[in-house]
Amino acid sequence: MTGYLCPICRKGLEKNGNSYVCESRHTFDLAKSGYVNLLPASKMNSKTPGDSKEMVLARRDFLDKGYYEGLRDALAQKAGELSPESPVYFDAGCGTGYYTSAVISALKDPVCLGVDISKFATDVTAKREKRGLFAVASVYDLPLEDDSVDIITNVFSPMAEDEYRRILKKGGYLLYVVPGPRHLYSLKELLYDTPYENEVSYPYYQGFEEIERTECVFDVRLENAVDTERLFAMTPYFWRTPAGALEKIRALDGLDTVAQFYICVLRRI
Ligand SMILES: C[S@@+](CC[C@H](N)C(=O)[O-])C[C@H]1O[C@@H](n2cnc3c(N)ncnc32)[C@H](O)[C@@H]1O
Ligand SMILES: [Zn+2]
Repeated sequence: MTGYLCPICRKGLEKNGNSYVCESRHTFDLAKSGYVNLLPASKMNSKTPGDSKEMVLARRDFLDKGYYEGLRDALAQKAGELSPESPVYFDAGCGTGYYTSAVISALKDPVCLGVDISKFATDVTAKREKRGLFAVASVYDLPLEDDSVDIITNVFSPMAEDEYRRILKKGGYLLYVVPGPRHLYSLKELLYDTPYENEVSYPYYQGFEEIERTECVFDVRLENAVDTERLFAMTPYFWRTPAGALEKIRALDGLDTVAQFYICVLRRI
């Protein structure tokens, strides 16, 4: 068994050569890097959903320089502390697999699954990480069994609470990372005349209890304008690029800012 379900008939998928196949012979070929596309064409809201190739490569190159190592290590440590032995670990919206890899290394004998709706992101993860099986799929319609996962990580990806509740075993954990109010504040000061702090909300997720919310805060010294631009491409501000943003970024030789996150630990009750 691969751990994945057929997105058409919801039966288990088995690996057969370079494909995943279900009992009804629905067949999904693996890409060269090893990921599988389980997103039915009927559920694609655009031809290439999720992060674009440019955004994915900017994220990969930024993260691989170690700027967010502090968050990566804190998340991996937390996952290691909470997880049972031989867990099923699932990364929801795995992006480039930067956090996924560190979490796998912190777990004892895990089975690792991860999805992203962007085929570019899933491809980068599958190339990086050979200890897991990765699929293109939406977190809002996961090709995974009910009550089958011990630990989920979600780092800045959509919060599909109904699906996370469905797939998590009782007593399992969802580690959910959200930005804090001062996150990248000096980048905002550079971009906006009247910057504002992120609002932090404390939503109630049915079927979960929040058992912990740990702040993770550290300085980020961006070495050059290219890295500042990569970070900018990872933020929501990129989508509504303020006038002159790129010119302002390129005029500086890097930037000092602060990264501030909360690692929220939600337990499935
Ligand atoms: C901000 S990025 C975070 C990626 C990764 N967790 C990280 O921190 O490096 C958000 C990711 O969610 C993915 N995404 C957006 N909507 C999604 C959906 N409905 N299902 C799965 N992934 C989705 C995007 O393609 C993108 O890779
Ligand atoms: Zn099938």
